[in-house]
Amino acid sequence: MMQPIRSLIFVPGNRAGMLERARSFDADVIMVDLEDSVPLGEKGNARDMAREWVPVLRDGGGGAGRRVMVRVNSLDTGLTRAELERVVAPGLYGVSLGKVESVRDVRTLDGLLSALEPAAGLEAGSLRIIPWIETAKAVWDARAIAEASPRVAAIAFGAEDFTNDMGIERSDGGDEVAVPRAMVPVAARAGEVGALDSPFVRFRDPDALRDDARRARRMGYTGKFAIHPAQLEIINETFSPSAEEIEYARRVVEAWDAAEAAGRGSLALDGRMIDVPVVKRAQNLLALADAIGQAG
Ligand code: GLV
Ligand code: MG
Repeated sequence: MMQPIRSLIFVPGNRAGMLERARSFDADVIMVDLEDSVPLGEKGNARDMAREWVPVLRDGGGGAGRRVMVRVNSLDTGLTRAELERVVAPGLYGVSLGKVESVRDVRTLDGLLSALEPAAGLEAGSLRIIPWIETAKAVWDARAIAEASPRVAAIAFGAEDFTNDMGIERSDGGDEVAVPRAMVPVAARAGEVGALDSPFVRFRDPDALRDDARRARRMGYTGKFAIHPAQLEIINETFSPSAEEIEYARRVVEAWDAAEAAGRGSLALDGRMIDVPVVKRAQNLLALADAIGQAG
């Protein structure tokens, strides 16, 4: 199993103080942002700072599993190529592309990365892509976007841009995005990539964040973006199997092995019928726990 991405945190590329603080953030991915958290007049500065900070963030703190990515501006801004030319360098795990509209956008990005990798001393095809699914067109084509390049590691749902594109209001409860938000993990699964949920913007409300993240996990999301470091612990915990889940999965697998050895194809455990899909789910959970490194 690929190293999972449970948590990602945005750090604006033009803010030296925040980049410095990000060295100690406990996120699976630090996402240096050149897109919507950076004002237009600061785009050039942010690009230069991202170049400088990616290797620093890669090596400084955060544990072995930490990866650093850069979110670049969408292709229609005309900024993307110059940003990639600047930030593609050793230490970069990949690039996230805002406001993807089509398969062609991902293929264009793939081509730009392929052109830049050799001169940067990176292995061909090694940089990963996370496209943002945040327009009606992208939601509709999400599976094809997930499959548009072998570089795609996950697709991300962006509720703010999506509601903008639809011309609708954004609410705290999120009813207005319930359907597209549920579609993205299904498309991701069909395309065999991860699914990353939109950030939760009320960063001073940990209980509401926990509810929101749990809902996302139940829908099939494999991780979630943070916009504030205080959100990371809850996100990491929510997208990691709990000790109870691991314990139960181990019991299922053990009971199943014993039943199989006795020539039976189903069994009862704690008053529940256990059959093949339940066992597979338990095995997948143990594999995820193992990949996160907490199976102990
Ligand atoms: C994130 O980029 C969003 O638009 O919600
Ligand atoms: Mg967005």
